Amino acid sequence: MKPKILITRNILPEALQYLKEHVDYEIGATGRNLTKKEIIEKIKDKEGLYSLLVDTIDKDVINAAPLLKIIANCAVGYNNINIDYAHKKGIMVTNTPGVLTETTADLTWALIFAVARRIPQADKFTREKKYKGWELDLFLGKEITGKQLGIIGMGRIGKAVALRSKAFKMKVVYSDPVRLSPEEENEYQASFVTLEKLISSSDIITMHTALTSETFHLISKKELKLMKKDAILVNVSRGEVVDEKALADALEKNQIWGAGLDVYENEPEIESKLINLDNVVLLPHIGSATYETRLKMAMTAAENLVQGLKGKRPKNLIAF
Ligand code: GLV
Repeated sequence: MKPKILITRNILPEALQYLKEHVDYEIGATGRNLTKKEIIEKIKDKEGLYSLLVDTIDKDVINAAPLLKIIANCAVGYNNINIDYAHKKGIMVTNTPGVLTETTADLTWALIFAVARRIPQADKFTREKKYKGWELDLFLGKEITGKQLGIIGMGRIGKAVALRSKAFKMKVVYSDPVRLSPEEENEYQASFVTLEKLISSSDIITMHTALTSETFHLISKKELKLMKKDAILVNVSRGEVVDEKALADALEKNQIWGAGLDVYENEPEIESKLINLDNVVLLPHIGSATYETRLKMAMTAAENLVQGLKGKRPKNLIAF
């Protein structure tokens, strides 16, 4: 008999096809997320859980799953899972690192340019037939070439963002709990600085850190005050690393030039003030959203799950 698993929400057909060969799956919902109550109800008799970053897998869910051996999260981040408790219960947890690095770095740059060159606003203006001819001062943006880029969190994605900045001849500084080796600092042409120095001296600040108790509200009122008046802040990591209310206040007061957000503190809710501000670009958490990358993520999570259920060490096991 194949092991029973729960897939919380419909995933790409290629991954389902693969899973069908190895497991007996139930898809929790189509076109919507499962509530925690529904997950608890459905997980009771399952040995595997294929979760998405929108699913909260906390103590209650884990306690409701006496047979559970593995949680395969289809995301690189896993802050939605109480990993310590899962480990305490002997449950493996996996994620999908590596496969979404380049795509997320690309979107970071798309956001940087969208904010700096006011692309969404200019597009809206043109569609509204407000374009009456070339003007010297129409939609003046901010120069990127030659500016200082501050990368908070120099992991895989941070490094990929740094590499792309070489095309724009930028000075790159970074802050991270772990300093890169001199060889890597040379490869990425990046200087290690304190968080305070990065925040106060960078023209563009981009967040690529995991969400932990240390990084919660890493950028808050105090840090926003430290930023240059014409700084741009971009967040494609997790909403909670930026105090969204404080950011909305700073943008409203034009304390910084602008911001680009792909993630929010209480997704899918967005701080209402942000919606009406012209100096922020808002995206619906699409950092890794290309067909190629989402397929790789879906397949990676499926393979991790099957490996774990077959008693093998899954490729992307988050160490106990
Ligand atoms: C996306 O946010 C991910 O963690 O994969």
